[in-house]
Amino acid sequence: MTSSFPEGFRWGVASASYQIEGAVAADGRGPSIWDTFSHTPGRIDGDDDGDVACDHYHRWAEDLDLIRSLGIPAYRFSVAWPRVMPDGRTVNQAGLDFYDRLVDGMLERGIDPLLTLYHWDLPQALDVGEAGGWLDRDIADRFADFAVVVGKQLGDRVPAITTLNEPWCSAYLGYAKGEHAPGRTSSPLAYRAAHHLNLAHGRAAAALRSTLPAGAEVSVTLNLQQVQAASDRPEDLAAAAHADLVANRIFLDPMLRGGYPLELLEQTAHLTDWSFVADGDAEVICQPLDFLGVNFYNPVRICAPAAGLAPYPGTDRACFVDIPGPHTVMGWPIQASGLTDLLLRVQRDHGIPMMVTENGTACADLPDGQGVVHDLDRIDYLHQHLTAVRDAIEAGADVRGYYLWTLLDNFEWAWGYDKRFGIVHVDFDTLSRTPKDSARWYADVIARNAPP
Ligand code: FCB
Repeated sequence: MTSSFPEGFRWGVASASYQIEGAVAADGRGPSIWDTFSHTPGRIDGDDDGDVACDHYHRWAEDLDLIRSLGIPAYRFSVAWPRVMPDGRTVNQAGLDFYDRLVDGMLERGIDPLLTLYHWDLPQALDVGEAGGWLDRDIADRFADFAVVVGKQLGDRVPAITTLNEPWCSAYLGYAKGEHAPGRTSSPLAYRAAHHLNLAHGRAAAALRSTLPAGAEVSVTLNLQQVQAASDRPEDLAAAAHADLVANRIFLDPMLRGGYPLELLEQTAHLTDWSFVADGDAEVICQPLDFLGVNFYNPVRICAPAAGLAPYPGTDRACFVDIPGPHTVMGWPIQASGLTDLLLRVQRDHGIPMMVTENGTACADLPDGQGVVHDLDRIDYLHQHLTAVRDAIEAGADVRGYYLWTLLDNFEWAWGYDKRFGIVHVDFDTLSRTPKDSARWYADVIARNAPP
């Protein structure tokens, strides 16, 4: 790859509160559904939890120094709702103060903040009983209140706020597959949760517009799936189109087009009657957005249901088949062209500016005798995916930035600490941070505005 990125292209790294902060009881923070989930035996590999994580809550200044020393101009982080509102409703100023310090710290170092409101750490107090959490319609108003509190406190210094990170994961992994908190396993519930996530996004986006200074950007981040049909057989093509409805259009269409696709309602009618959608919801959900955040790790290949194949989360009308070729240590296929195709599809269907808000890979990172990690596999993955972004831009996609996932090795949800995505190695015994080769490579990419 030789040609450069557009002038002003925003280069960053991304993180999420529960994955790095630790300090789960500090300064009045309340428990989140991920504290409960990770403390339930058997839920997380190695029964790991986020109690300490990278201790970023206490080491934030060192971490911001690291970002600056690598010359990374932008940082995407998330605010822990249970720090700011421990019971999901009442403001805890000490929790809010942490993000005040963090944002001021970024600005002092010349780092441009991109704030995510919800990266999965729902206050446990809002997930009570069978119909709590994202199953409760009321959560949309609770979330809008939280957005206003954060917007009032930080909106004068944070130029861009994202409502939700990957509502697909919250809905399907949290309520259908049970792999994420709160660990429910009922497909019908996933659709109800998805709708309330959409509604919460809409209410929060509208509330932010009336709270933030003019010119502040409002966005949402989706982990859009680049869905490939396993073959040209009509049943595989239909299964792939169905997976696209369930995975992508369930969020894209209401958020950007003003309503759910009729085919989605028809094809899921045996799972849910959609009676949780009320009059006027469509208008609430469809708010003007300044850009769409796109997270991408790998494409998915889909076929018609067949014995022995893993069903697509939330539905019985599509199954996964493996994509041949190289895979990461997560078992995820590596196919960077999927990212080009995905960005061009969003451009074609929605014509909205985009930001890649997450992309990166876990590797079997082993420090050498000097504690340094030579992560050539990660550099190779990043090189391929940056080429894919550049290709999409050259083919007409309006992509304005790229946030690498992630700065630090951290708590990788159900996988615990075993899976390392950082460009900076973290020794989880001493918590010391050591930049990997990929960190220096990325610094060079940024300095040139193009990979070497
Ligand atoms: C995404 C999450 C992020 C991280 C990466 C690997 O789905 O948003 O927190 O875990 O996957």
